[in-house]
Amino acid sequence: MEAKKEHGLFKKCERLLVLCIFMYIVFIVRSYLSIVHVILNRMVGYNKTEVLPYEVGNVSLIQRSGLPNYDLFLPSDAEHPSARFYSTWNVNASTLPSKKSSDRKKVIIWNPTSRWPTPNAIPCLSLPQCEFVKKKRRTIKTEDADAIIFRGIHGIPRKYRRSWFPKTRPDHQIWVYFAFECPHLTRGIDLISYAGVFNWTMTYRNDSDILAPWGHITQVYKALAENPPTPNKDYAKEKNKLVIWYVTDCYQYLSRTKYATELVQHIKVDVFGACGDVKGSCPKGDRECLKEHVRQYKFYLAFENFRCIEYITEKFWHNSLDYDIVPVVFGASKGHYERFTPPNSFIHVDDFESPEALAKYLNYLDQNDDKYNEYFAWKTKPPKNLPELFESRFCDVCKKLLRASPTERKVYTDLDRWWRGENYEYCEPIVWDGRLKGKNNAVRFP
Ligand SMILES: *[C@@H]1O[C@H](CO)[C@@H](O)[C@H](O)[C@H]1NC(C)=O
Ligand SMILES: *[C@@H]1O[C@H](CO)[C@@H](O)[C@H](O)[C@H]1NC(C)=O
Ligand SMILES: *[C@@H]1O[C@H](CO)[C@@H](O)[C@H](O)[C@H]1NC(C)=O
Ligand SMILES: *[C@@H]1O[C@H](CO)[C@@H](O)[C@H](O)[C@H]1NC(C)=O
Repeated sequence: MEAKKEHGLFKKCERLLVLCIFMYIVFIVRSYLSIVHVILNRMVGYNKTEVLPYEVGNVSLIQRSGLPNYDLFLPSDAEHPSARFYSTWNVNASTLPSKKSSDRKKVIIWNPTSRWPTPNAIPCLSLPQCEFVKKKRRTIKTEDADAIIFRGIHGIPRKYRRSWFPKTRPDHQIWVYFAFECPHLTRGIDLISYAGVFNWTMTYRNDSDILAPWGHITQVYKALAENPPTPNKDYAKEKNKLVIWYVTDCYQYLSRTKYATELVQHIKVDVFGACGDVKGSCPKGDRECLKEHVRQYKFYLAFENFRCIEYITEKFWHNSLDYDIVPVVFGASKGHYERFTPPNSFIHVDDFESPEALAKYLNYLDQNDDKYNEYFAWKTKPPKNLPELFESRFCDVCKKLLRASPTERKVYTDLDRWWRGENYEYCEPIVWDGRLKGKNNAVRFP
């Protein structure tokens, strides 16, 4: 009797053990599969055989002034040019469900990563009317959210799949497409398949529903008001070096790489980062070190990886403006820089017929301190009509939700064209030949 009982118990344990081993195997296989998935996603767009809209087969097709002039991109008349990429309508107010008891808005940040959003980006402390919730997908009730923010670069499937998204989608709920980077970096996502999915956009571009720029002129002047610069300061005096460039991506087919290759033949450029003097570089993310390093120089090459309309990144806003150095910019058109940045705060490469002419001008400024200091005059003269203070992109989501009428509806019927341009013209085309940061295609600046 006892033995039989024991035997039964043993059987039970055995079954449990087999089940455990089986579950363990499933778990291991699943994690391998997800690693493969991540790798595949990383590779998106780097595959030579994949035909993507930006691909051009011939390097010589890329021209330095390949960007059209987009200064008239957003005319001020009533007919908004992007309107053909979305639809708006109103629903009959009497058909809406009766109001919730609280006016507080709930915003879900869908599928966050360890690096996004950065901890100090949320919550939006100045606006207690909004609650932000970070959630891994499918582990949360979403029906009561007013908006859900989706990360549009590595955070959504390559092709739209209803099953990947929240199970229910109430009509009042706003799905936000958030892209921090430019269209070249979303090229692996088939945005055509996302037609009719997202209600709002949140990007660095000024015609987004929510502006999420890398920097903002009002923030710059606000910081200066708190920490005013000495009037008539001689910025040239404290500098003993000429041109600095921090660069980690020197893929040979980027137009900035071609430009810089020529520039360094005419002026001494100290190159730091993966493509230059690695040993002398500041550790990644060490802003104090960077500040001390950069300040010794007169000019900073704020060259964007990609030339896309309105795409002006931290290279301009932080590495240059914050560190009392004159940025030499390469990226969006001059008109765009002028529209978004402090007056006379930069030197644009398009003003020069060649890198050699630019080098000559930099040497001229090096010899002429008064002229050089003119590039800092903006610091003590804020423009009269500064745009409304931009606080943070998450606060702006909250503000827009609070302002929105409950009957308004909007959806992007052609997100792809809105984002990349009707004929893919919002970014300069680029040759994709192997991996961008791969060593084979990198140029080194000794
Ligand atoms: C690029 O195109 C030009 C003109 O069509 C041609 O002469 C050249 O050989 C091409 N280069 C490559 C690498 O295909
Ligand atoms: C809205 O719906 C109500 C009830 O169905 C109807 O009586 C009213 O005429 C509708 N209003 C409009 C503007 O369509
Ligand atoms: C950005 O867009 C807003 C709203 O459409 C407009 O009022 C503003 O002038 C634009 N800003 C710039 C710098 O173009
Ligand atoms: C958001 O888009 C969906 C899908 O097209 C639509 O059904 C819904 O009414 C939109 N909601 C809002 C608030 O615009």
